[in-house]
Amino acid sequence: MTTVRLVAGKGGVGKTTVASALALHAVQRGERVLLLSTDPTGALGQIFPGVSDELGEVTPGLFAVELTRRAVLARWRERFGEEIYQVISALLPVERDILEYIEGVPGLEEEFLLSYLLDELDSGRYDRIIWDSAPTAGTLALLEAQTLFYDHLTQAHRIYLRLHGYMSGADPTALIEGWRELTGRILEMLRARTRAWVVAQPERLPVVQGLELMDALERFGIGLERAVLNRVLPREACPDCAFYRAKLTQQRSWVESWRRESPVPVRELPELEKNPLNPGDLLELARILEDGEDGDPYA
Ligand SMILES: Nc1ncnc2c1ncn2[C@@H]1O[C@H](COP(=O)(O)OP(=O)(O)OP(=O)(O)O)[C@@H](O)[C@H]1O
Ligand SMILES: [Mg+2]
Repeated sequence: MTTVRLVAGKGGVGKTTVASALALHAVQRGERVLLLSTDPTGALGQIFPGVSDELGEVTPGLFAVELTRRAVLARWRERFGEEIYQVISALLPVERDILEYIEGVPGLEEEFLLSYLLDELDSGRYDRIIWDSAPTAGTLALLEAQTLFYDHLTQAHRIYLRLHGYMSGADPTALIEGWRELTGRILEMLRARTRAWVVAQPERLPVVQGLELMDALERFGIGLERAVLNRVLPREACPDCAFYRAKLTQQRSWVESWRRESPVPVRELPELEKNPLNPGDLLELARILEDGEDGDPYA
């Protein structure tokens, strides 16, 4: 069964780098892979030029898409717009632009972002999906919105069932039930088929927030797979340099906190001389991520 790897963490820690490395590695193993970004300021294009909000094959076997609000809401309109308009216009004297207001409903955009992911997962086209997510707060809001949306739809469904006898013609209950069912399937996908790789750097905030994120994901019901510490300074780079040694000492304490407190195996990636943007460098990182020993950056 295809599963989703969610790559999450604070802004700038290396989520896109890790997600791309994992994706390339899986392609090299012969898998068909979808690399999907839900970061509104996603930067997959840095690594795979030509990635856009239209799903496309960026190298043989690797499909990629950067979901934007515009693309997601366009799909939403296509799928539900007309039905919603019919229901509302049977009750109230409204024009089609009512849909623009509805698009602003909290949770709706998130719902459709995740329904895109669910459709791709159910399509059977991929052996693996790698999900490059927005920085911590955005991802947690996205997940939180699902449970709120689900509760809200359950309430709405009950209210409409009670009102049913008073309404003539329009019947929103089927629509609401359809959404509730969709949201239920999304929650199921997140809890049963998604595993998280949480990324941090050996500094105070990324470590603290990364540990909090692991906690929040587990509470939500998303299983954790790996705790990645990126940009760990190599010990031998500049033994006579006081500044570098001070930096190393500081990093050490955060490396230790991460190792001590992560509930899942740790992978450490070294700070590289240049940004790992080409497939060779990314595959090198992937080798550590996939096959490395717990905590050993040079395995
Ligand atoms: N191990 C590394 N060594 C050197 N540079 C790195 C390393 N890992 C990542 N970088 C560079 O750091 C920058 C940020 O990485 P990346 O874009 O993967 O982070 P991100 O978590 O996806 O950021 P955002 O939160 O903005 O999406 C990029 O320029 C990337 O090439
Ligand atoms: Mg990114």
